[in-house]
Amino acid sequence: MEQNIVLEMRDISKNFTGVRALSHVDFTLRKGEIHALMGENGAGKSTLIKVLTGVHEFESGSIHMNGENKDIINHSPQEAQTNGISTVYQEVNLCPNLTVAENLFIGREPRNKVGMINWKEMNARSAKLLESLNINVPPTQMLDECSVAIQQMIAIARAVDMKCKVLILDEPTSSLDDEEVEKLFVLMRRLREEGVGIIFVTHFLEQVYAVCDRITVLRNGELVGEYETKDLPRVMLVAKMMGKDFDDLADIKGNHKDKKMFSETPVIEANGIGHKGTIRPFNLKINKGEVIGLTGLLGSGRSELVRAIYGADKADSGTLKVNGKEAKISSPLDAMKLGMAYLPEDRKAEGIIADLSVRENIIIALQAKRGMFHPLSRKEMEEAADKYIEMLQIKTASRETPIKSLSGGNQQKVILGRWLLTNPEYLILDEPTRGIDIGTKTEIQKIVLDLADQGMAVTFISSEVEEMLRTCSRMAVLRDGEKVGELEESELSQSNIMKAIAGGDDKNE
Ligand SMILES: Nc1ncnc2c1ncn2[C@@H]1O[C@H](COP(=O)(O)OP(=O)(O)OP(=O)(O)O)[C@@H](O)[C@H]1O
Ligand SMILES: [Mg+2]
Repeated sequence: MEQNIVLEMRDISKNFTGVRALSHVDFTLRKGEIHALMGENGAGKSTLIKVLTGVHEFESGSIHMNGENKDIINHSPQEAQTNGISTVYQEVNLCPNLTVAENLFIGREPRNKVGMINWKEMNARSAKLLESLNINVPPTQMLDECSVAIQQMIAIARAVDMKCKVLILDEPTSSLDDEEVEKLFVLMRRLREEGVGIIFVTHFLEQVYAVCDRITVLRNGELVGEYETKDLPRVMLVAKMMGKDFDDLADIKGNHKDKKMFSETPVIEANGIGHKGTIRPFNLKINKGEVIGLTGLLGSGRSELVRAIYGADKADSGTLKVNGKEAKISSPLDAMKLGMAYLPEDRKAEGIIADLSVRENIIIALQAKRGMFHPLSRKEMEEAADKYIEMLQIKTASRETPIKSLSGGNQQKVILGRWLLTNPEYLILDEPTRGIDIGTKTEIQKIVLDLADQGMAVTFISSEVEEMLRTCSRMAVLRDGEKVGELEESELSQSNIMKAIAGGDDKNE
């Protein structure tokens, strides 16, 4: 065995009822490397990690650490942690109502002679730890007052302090802005230098190429291969993930270029709509068949703007016309009845109903729109569910499977299906492809363009400029809670968008 191996997983197989999640997978992690675990939604990445950390039992295979010939089987995440394996998930699993220091030392608090928690020492050690990792937050701050990025770094700091040898990051960057991602990378590189082996799961290809030394690719629960990053160009990586040659990333807008004029009257016309404290009054017109992008940094007011239109935050100024008629919207249900649909950014909190089936999760918005006196028949529900499982290629054992047992990306597709099913005239998509693999991402972008061709008005929010360029016919630019300008189709380019976001030009209205 190679000298510097910290973790070796051999021939791992894992079944869920009806699903072969992992089939004879090998995975090797070396000391001081950042190793990307890549694959499409449902490929088995999270499952491999959960097998390693004792969340799931597995049928066959072996796990060795530090080149020792001893089989390690972790029966719980705590046991894994004792063995030097720590995991930081996208949804941080810390306690929001405790302080930073308490979270760092939970379960291993320094105590005085009579067994009481030694707060002074705990806060002092926390301060030192945070400082050593360049994490800028006071130990006594409540965790829920920290940004997601800081919370993640705190989770990492905790792992570091517990002397982890293997650090697992499962999609930690999906809700971070560029600057936060960069800070996380600095921290990751430091840990690499100290010899920690890091497993990094992400759907952002740029990030893989920015920090990872090595890449392991899974597809359909099987190992495709292990590669050094420098030997695997992007297109090859994508091809390996998808299991086919890849020419599909070309210009998908091509055949959507000829715009039809559907009607003179905009579907949505906001005049001075605003919501105190979140978004300054703005004007915005959206026509049938248009995909309007909202661009701006995280926190610039993109979500807040659509929330004010949709009634999720009731507008406190201005007027809104829907198809030329003034509309009073005081709640999302009002908006839904007017033909709007909103796929929120925070799907964990606002979207997924974990214990319900895929079918129930898909039909729920349509049912709400119809009202409870007009229940959908069983047949209607099943047909609706099957249609979107097929259309969005949702990987699920059946339509009756609880949504919580789907992979993260597939859960997301279910929620997208839910809103498409309401057949909206105006569809708002807030980061619809986050956590979705690159092949499906392209599919979703195509679906959006097709829907627009058929006359749907769409607002598309995405942090990925490239994705916006591929889908949008016009863009509104936001900065610090204010709409500061618009870019017409002819002006849409990577550099124009960047400039507009940064505020370096004079394209203000
Ligand atoms: N608890 C579970 N019960 C039943 N099936 C499951 C469970 N967890 C995962 N699966 C199935 O195992 C397969 C692999 O899922 P996994 O979550 O490992 O995918 P992933 O690669 O992490 O995908 P994503 O990129 O979407 O997060 C999927 O088909 C999924 O539906
Ligand atoms: Mg996953």
